[in-house]
Formats: sequence, structure tokens, C-alpha cells
Amino acid sequence: MSDKIQVAIKVRPLVTREKDVGEFWRVDGNALYPLNIDKQPSGEIFAYDHVFANNSTNMEVFEKVVKPLVNRAVKGFNATIFAYGQTSSGKTHTMLGDQNEAGITQLAVSSMFDFMKRLNLKDETGKVID
Ligand SMILES: Nc1ncnc2c1ncn2[C@@H]1O[C@H](COP(=O)(O)OP(=O)(O)OP(=O)(O)O)[C@@H](O)[C@H]1O
Ligand SMILES: [Mg+2]
Repeated sequence: MSDKIQVAIKVRPLVTREKDVGEFWRVDGNALYPLNIDKQPSGEIFAYDHVFANNSTNMEVFEKVVKPLVNRAVKGFNATIFAYGQTSSGKTHTMLGDQNEAGITQLAVSSMFDFMKRLNLKDETGKVID
């Protein structure tokens, strides 16, 4: 994993009110392109470090983008992950999840606790802390 700032896009599924008009973006690898009113590619293309399509899960985002940073953070490197986007674009769903899937914050914290567990840290009596 490189040290440069990485930008990942997560496309969310359409919500009910958007279903009549449909998608106006297509994902192509690590790029996105907008469609015009006739649903044809408009000619523009926007590339990022990662693009997650609308069927991607928070776990996939975690594995690809977050876990490498957690693995470095537990070795003492600073890392920040934040979600940016217009209202209703899916920031809260990605960061915190919902009743069906955990968000990347929860997955990151769990992964840090798993890491600490594997260290077999001991209390002052020498007993391994669970
Ligand atoms: N991956 C997903 N799967 C299913 N529904 C999703 C997904 N991502 C977002 N949504 C739904 O889309 C809607 C908007 O998402 P969310 O509330 O996360 O947006 P937001 O960017 O946090 O908005 P705001 O800026 O208003 O806080 C919600 O109804 C959410 O449940
Ligand atoms: Mg929100």
C-alpha cells in the first residue's frame, strides 16, 4: 500500500424515489462515467484509486481500503478515513452500516481488537487478557 492519499468511490443502490429515472452513471473498473439524458455515455470519464459498484458491500470496502490502513495504524502510522459526498449519497451507511451490514468503522474497530488479541497481552499476574 502506498502512502499517498487515496480516493475511493462507493456507488450506492438507487433508493425508491430514484428508481423511475434510473442510473445516470456507469462503473467501469476504477472509473465512472456519466450518461446523458438518452442514457448514452456523455464522453467524460472520472478515474479514482478504487470504485465500488452499487452491489458492493461495506466488507469489500473494508478489505480493500480500510484494512491496509488499520494494519499500518496498529504499527504506529497515523491514518484517517473520512466519507465525503452530497446529502443522501451513502456516507452514514458506509461508515456506520445498518441492521443488515456493519459499517467500516465497526469493522475497523473489530479488526484492531482482533490484532490486540493476537498479541496475547498479559495482565500484571501474567494471565493473558481476553
Ligand atoms: N449500500 C447501500 N445499500 C442499501 N441502501 C443504501 C446503501 N447506501 C446507502 N443506502 C441508503 O441510501 C440512503 C442515503 O444514505 P445515507 O443516509 O447513508 O446518506 P448520507 O450520505 O449519510 O446522507 P446525509 O448527508 O443526509 O447524512 C439511506 O436510505 C440508506 O439506507
Ligand atoms: Mg449521514
